[in-house]
Amino acid sequence: MLSYETLRSLLFKLPPETAHTLAEFALRTAALTPFALGAVAARCVSQADLKQTIFGLKFPNPIGIGAGFDKNGTMIRPLAALGFGFIEVGTGTPKAQSGNPKPRMWRHIGEHSLQNAMGFNNDGLEAIVRRVSALQPFVLPIGINLGKNKTTPNEKALEDYRVGIEKAANGADYLVFNLSSPNTPNLRDLQSESFVRDLFALARTLTTKPILLKIAPDLDAANAIAIAQTAIECGASGVIATNTTNDYSLIAGSQTRGGGLSGAILAEKSRALFDALSAELYGKTVLISCGGIMDADEAWQRIKMGASLIQVFTGLIYGGAGFAATLADGIWERLNREGFTKIEDAIGSLRR
Ligand SMILES: Cc1cc2nc3c(=O)[nH]c(=O)nc-3n(C[C@H](O)[C@H](O)[C@H](O)COP(=O)(O)O)c2cc1C
Repeated sequence: MLSYETLRSLLFKLPPETAHTLAEFALRTAALTPFALGAVAARCVSQADLKQTIFGLKFPNPIGIGAGFDKNGTMIRPLAALGFGFIEVGTGTPKAQSGNPKPRMWRHIGEHSLQNAMGFNNDGLEAIVRRVSALQPFVLPIGINLGKNKTTPNEKALEDYRVGIEKAANGADYLVFNLSSPNTPNLRDLQSESFVRDLFALARTLTTKPILLKIAPDLDAANAIAIAQTAIECGASGVIATNTTNDYSLIAGSQTRGGGLSGAILAEKSRALFDALSAELYGKTVLISCGGIMDADEAWQRIKMGASLIQVFTGLIYGGAGFAATLADGIWERLNREGFTKIEDAIGSLRR
């Protein structure tokens, strides 16, 4: 069989978005050919010790695919076969939109990182929710990540999120409010206590489904904590930290393209913000850590810091189809090596 290193060197000769489209095609085709997915599914991990029930939903393992990989909900079944424990689709917006002009995704191979300025290209929430609903009830929790259209000014953003909740709440197992993409002009300005208060107050009149807030790694810790606390007081079920960073000092020359950086160079920043948030909020809400998780050591550290769940994106691009299964194996090994009997005992063990 072709090793992922060989396949990756071929894929990396293509522009990143072309490679992503090709991977989407391969995954969708594999989903139609059960024996092809069977080979991967055989590696799929379902160690009992990694199972959790959160929000009343059953997570077979704590590793989720971060939003943006499956923007349109077309790869849910194959992603499940790759061993992920939950799937987040989107970001979806009320109306379909094409996103920013191409090229809008770049690799920083030496840094094991990506840079993207996609701008919420998506088929619109109606199509996304139709695809998700057709699969329900599904074997894994499926989240739908919600954003606003580029043409909607911030003063009317609440209305886009209202439409998003109304469209998505029935199909999704959980929702995420994405206020942290750097690629929709001024979206991050909505990361304020006042907007978050209004948003969750509205949301709680519309649905009882779990809703999480996804924040940027570029907030200072005190501000991030204040915003997260407000969200929780107003009905948020949890926080996802973090999205991509626009700290271009992390990679020389990245500023000219703009967008957000992800992968290994994000790890330290994302971990530090997660640690600060968890120091205040561990035990009070569900915390999901995302950003620069490229191996099992990093995943394990986030879990011990207080992450009930983790999400990955760039690690899958660099690590290949077996990435989720490798992480699950690695987490399971560390769990046993350090004498924990189940994942819940490890979560937040550094805080106790
Ligand atoms: C190409 C690309 C597109 C993304 N699109 C979205 C998106 O639509 N919504 C979102 O909330 N996050 C999006 N993200 C952010 C990821 O979900 C994740 O938060 C970020 O990449 C950090 O994780 P990582 O270092 O494991 O990649 C995107 C990331 C990449 C690389």
